[in-house]
Amino acid sequence: MSTPPAAAPRRHDIAVLRGDGVGPEVVEAALTVLDAAERRFGFASDRTEVPLGADHYLATGELLPEETVADLKQRDAILFGAIGSPRVTPGVLERGVILALRRELTQAINLRPVRLYPGVPTPIAGLTPERCDLVIVRENTEGAYVAQGSSVHAGTHAWTAVQESTNTWYAVQRTVDFAFRLASVRRGRLTLCHKTNVLVEAGRLWNAVIEEVGQRYPDVETDYVHVDAMCMHLPVHPERFDVVVTDNLFGDIVTDLGAVLQGGLGVASSGNLNVDGSAPSMFEPIHGSAPDIAGRGWANPAGACLSLAMMLGQLGEGEAAAAVESATAAVLADLPALAGAEMGATTAELGERIASALAEGTAAPVEGSLMSQLAQVSELS
Ligand code: IPM
Ligand code: MG
Repeated sequence: MSTPPAAAPRRHDIAVLRGDGVGPEVVEAALTVLDAAERRFGFASDRTEVPLGADHYLATGELLPEETVADLKQRDAILFGAIGSPRVTPGVLERGVILALRRELTQAINLRPVRLYPGVPTPIAGLTPERCDLVIVRENTEGAYVAQGSSVHAGTHAWTAVQESTNTWYAVQRTVDFAFRLASVRRGRLTLCHKTNVLVEAGRLWNAVIEEVGQRYPDVETDYVHVDAMCMHLPVHPERFDVVVTDNLFGDIVTDLGAVLQGGLGVASSGNLNVDGSAPSMFEPIHGSAPDIAGRGWANPAGACLSLAMMLGQLGEGEAAAAVESATAAVLADLPALAGAEMGATTAELGERIASALAEGTAAPVEGSLMSQLAQVSELS
């Protein structure tokens, strides 16, 4: 009897975009964790480095060349570190690389979990993990982020700057639909966060979309909170929220607050999701490039590792995703501090620690993991 040939391992074609500041360090740590996940769960990845960011821009004048976009579109996913540098005028790299990638790759949704893991210190007194498990679904391509606006008489005291927010039914609808689907596989509650009492035009459109799309999800209860009130409710009553859907700029702001609840920016993860299959999604920690601490090993790689977990979930490696999440949560719970030298270990050492915890497989599983919910959301589309 002949032995059947061994099945080829599952392979994923990943673009690795380390970027600036602490980006390369946290991505390196996440790749150590990816190695461990591949060994334990029997899959493999091809990793292509994408040299975008300050160095590339200063050397070549290029922000996001068309060929790079074309190349990225062929990949299965993008693992992203951070972009931004004091060597470049503010806004150039952010708009020219990050926002351009989100737009060019139709990453319609920015998914940002706000979850406090057991044993992780939070600055919010009395907050417990049971009360803090929500997901913010941020519209990711328009609002105030559309590269528009104009100035007249710039540089004089007659300077007039106009910067408007663009809201299309198309983009709002695809964001709201995703948020309803996610709520339907979670606790069935969707909150719109906006400022409908002042931004009445955009507010009417968002409300109309919620009403129309909501007809298809009768089991999801809807709720509304103004963005300013959100800044009060989020730290005080996070248990009120399950899925929060919001516009691009409000989402940018409230997700930094959300990061604080879960222990700080170093812990917070995100997925820029392409939901129509036309291009890959991109997974990034939300902390940014932190140039002041770059190269010292002071950045917490948890945000990058949890973003990796989300990426694995989206690539169909659900078990690996859940294991990366629980290993990261377990290592976080043992740290004396969540950032800087006080962590007591460097970025690279923490990557090794998370990789070992993953290899050992002893970390307690995370209940109601967002990773498995994401798989169910794709099945609903
Ligand atoms: C984020 C960041 C970006 C944003 C910046 C760097 C352009 O703050 O991902 O939250 O505003 O979206
Ligand atoms: Mg931000």
